[in-house]
Amino acid sequence: MLSEQTVRNAVAVVQDPELKKSLLELGMIRDISIKDGRISLTLALTTSKCPKKNAMVEEIKQVLEALPEVVNVEVQLTTLSQKELQDLFPQHPLQGIEKVQHVLAVASGKGGVGKTTIAINIALALAAEGNRVGILDADVYGPSVAVMLGLHDAPEWENRMIIPVQKFGLQVMSLGMLSKEGQALIWRGPMVGKAINQLLGQVMWGELDYLVVDLPPGTGDPSITVAQSIPKAAVLIVTTPQEVALADVRRAVELFRKYDLNMVGLVENMSYFMCGHTSEPIEIFGHGGGAKLSEELGLPLLGAVPIELQIGVSGDSGVPLMVSAADSEAGHIFQTIARKILAEVNRP
Ligand SMILES: Nc1ncnc2c1ncn2[C@@H]1O[C@H](COP(=O)(O)OP(=O)(O)OP(=O)(O)O)[C@@H](O)[C@H]1O
Ligand SMILES: [Mg+2]
Repeated sequence: MLSEQTVRNAVAVVQDPELKKSLLELGMIRDISIKDGRISLTLALTTSKCPKKNAMVEEIKQVLEALPEVVNVEVQLTTLSQKELQDLFPQHPLQGIEKVQHVLAVASGKGGVGKTTIAINIALALAAEGNRVGILDADVYGPSVAVMLGLHDAPEWENRMIIPVQKFGLQVMSLGMLSKEGQALIWRGPMVGKAINQLLGQVMWGELDYLVVDLPPGTGDPSITVAQSIPKAAVLIVTTPQEVALADVRRAVELFRKYDLNMVGLVENMSYFMCGHTSEPIEIFGHGGGAKLSEELGLPLLGAVPIELQIGVSGDSGVPLMVSAADSEAGHIFQTIARKILAEVNRP
């Protein structure tokens, strides 16, 4: 006679592939019922997005269908409650940024220098080097990562955690995805810190090699919150060659240095323009600003990105250059910058 104990004994061999423990012992198998050789049970997952869920269901079915008298096995799926997750993982290993290896904050002195454009294309270039990459839009004043990646859907919530949206192989989370399109967000003082800490701690980033954070321009609350919350973050500074941009950049660099963050280097954006009528680059916004600043601040100049129609058009259309034209000249420049960042961040 097929008993619940027989079923328990049989299913006890099935393990969670990541935790390497019996699903039964972990309390993930429940509601076992048996009727006329038909077994029904529930598998409670750590997250409904668990990539191994189908494999686990298959294995459960296989071991149970091998028992005598079994006609059919049905597995329902559910997710563990917040309380159960906490009991299982007192350290929350799959939540927040605990399993993110490196955080790369992209900052600038002033707005409109192409910080978001650089952050997104560098994130894609890091992924092209074989890394698991996420991008967090921490620009509370003008979140534009979602627009530049063509994302319109609001992220899903589970157990009071936000699940990042996947796009072009990146895990993406932006405050822009939490508000209705076109609706302006007004964040003030302490709200800013709270919102950013929520984006760092309440988003299920999972295991990532790099989390690229698009900071708002300047040295306001969000930059300070990120500097305080992620003491090991590496900072990439984006600037244009103009003198005005440079003065703001100095202030930003001073701020991050005050918090002891690791400054990986500078990227000079909108550096020059190839008009097609001559082979000489035209330096619309002046010459050598990045190099001068690099020397003055003791920061490596990791690259100079030209003004390129394709870069702007790609961003505005929701398909970044590193997706639409990774093999272009600008694409190679982004890829080289990403490799230099990897070398800087992983320097022993
Ligand atoms: N190298 C480039 N060539 C052409 N267009 C560019 C380049 N870099 C950025 N752009 C365009 O310039 C505009 C501003 O860029 P972006 O939004 O990335 O700047 P930002 O510094 O993030 O701005 P904000 O301060 O508003 O966040 C966008 O329309 C973008 O497509
Ligand atoms: Mg921006």
